[in-house]
Amino acid sequence: MQIDLIAKKNWTGRVLVGFMFEGDKTPLAIPGDEGKSYAAVAAGEKFTGQFKKTSLLRSASADYADDADSRLGPARAQTAETKEWKLILTGLGKRKEFELDRVRSATAKALKRAEEIGAESVGLLVPDSKEVRGDLADFAAAAVEGAILSSYRFDKYRTPKADEDRPVGELTLVFANTKNLSVAMRKAVDEVVARSEAVCFTRDLANEPPSPKPPEKMAEIATGLAKKGRITVEVMHKAELEKLGMGGILRVGAGSHQPPCLVHLTYTPAGKSKQTVVVIGKGITFDSGGISIKPSAGMEAMKDDMAGAGAVLGLFKWLGSVDVPVTVHGLAPFAENMPGGGAQKPGDVIRHYNGKTAEVISTDAEGRHLLADCLAYGSTLKPDLMIDIATLTGACVVALGDEYSALLGTDQRTIARLISVGRQQGEFFWELPLPDRYKSHLKSKVADMKHVGKPGIAGTITAGLFLKEFVGEGVPWVHIDIAGPSFTKEDWDYAPSGATGVPLRTIAALLRGL
Ligand code: BES
Ligand code: ZN
Ligand code: ZN
Repeated sequence: MQIDLIAKKNWTGRVLVGFMFEGDKTPLAIPGDEGKSYAAVAAGEKFTGQFKKTSLLRSASADYADDADSRLGPARAQTAETKEWKLILTGLGKRKEFELDRVRSATAKALKRAEEIGAESVGLLVPDSKEVRGDLADFAAAAVEGAILSSYRFDKYRTPKADEDRPVGELTLVFANTKNLSVAMRKAVDEVVARSEAVCFTRDLANEPPSPKPPEKMAEIATGLAKKGRITVEVMHKAELEKLGMGGILRVGAGSHQPPCLVHLTYTPAGKSKQTVVVIGKGITFDSGGISIKPSAGMEAMKDDMAGAGAVLGLFKWLGSVDVPVTVHGLAPFAENMPGGGAQKPGDVIRHYNGKTAEVISTDAEGRHLLADCLAYGSTLKPDLMIDIATLTGACVVALGDEYSALLGTDQRTIARLISVGRQQGEFFWELPLPDRYKSHLKSKVADMKHVGKPGIAGTITAGLFLKEFVGEGVPWVHIDIAGPSFTKEDWDYAPSGATGVPLRTIAALLRGL
């Protein structure tokens, strides 16, 4: 989607979007009698600015059109064929319930309406700073983000039908008050465009079918990220993983013809580095369950089992375009979990990077082996914060549903931050406990521990307790289980069905705030 910024007097488009708070007399940025007249017509269709509702006003079907025409922009009144215009009002709900995330949803709703009337290019009326709470650049950036993320499609392998609605291709931010068209505004928009593109990149990776994205292909894509900004990429192949003793990654990958690998990305800031952060993402390019094979119903969704690693790659795509004063290491272990002849078996014992051994109970609990190697390896980088992101447990979806990710870990400050930053980003997190009392569930007679707990009991928590065993002494750590929100079967406000890109935006905002 193309994004432009323009002064209202220079805008020549035909479809304009305006925001409106519920109960206001006028839409934002259209004050006075003109705004009142639009609001009155919309009210006739029961639109009063309710959140997620829209109202479409057409010049052709209403007698206020002629007057309004000349007010909406002088350029429009010039010729007969430019006379027809449309205004889409989109509701933000009640002022006292306002959250920035509503701007993303409201923009997405408006663009959906624009799409239905076949608009290819849409103008979006940016309110004046006095009309909104908080920073106007944040408001505008949220609108742009809602627009880009909601118009995302994964059409690589399908032929769109001739009569299908096409997403709006161009969005112009229209400024009534040109003072707001500032350098800071342009910068905020550029930044959010880059971040949204990173989210779409992450979505593409997870939406891609499993066979075209084996571990080596993912490593190749990751390597491409080093072209921009201050990023280096190292890929550790099978031989190196053997040398390092990464038994988890190797044994999980052993059931496939596609060899596993570990990608290590590094972002070094231009100036002084204030902190070192390690971000790890589970990268199972397909999870068949291995020898403990999954039921076939719904197995196609397991192409998304690399969404954690996808978010890490997306994060580095974003880091290629920004300056943050933090050193960031990304660890993305890739493997295909298959039941081939060399596959790991229930009863096997796996030795991980830090020397700890685990008895394999179900080869379908494969993700934690990759993470275990990476948490131990990441700890040697002496981070001030270590985060891992994984589609780890079905139990998490049972506990928190498909919109909340679980947080477990030792760093309470970061957990609290993720919850509050996530809420602003429209990505939702909730903490689960990590109690030592459940450690007994992992007791094994043949290895240092079993890698899964008791069937049907605290599956997300015992997975977290297993991971904790591999986190270095004193390393602040948070585990994010994204089994629910990484993929959605239904359309969300600004995430069409499929891979969502969660939790990339929250992690990016967290790194920005450090
Ligand atoms: N990738 C799955 C978890 C998953 C399930 C992600 C549903 C997204 C949606 C993971 O590898 C897995 O299979 N976990 C098992 C663990 C069990 C065998 C202890 C599970 O959750 O059933
Ligand atoms: Zn898995
Ligand atoms: Zn599995």
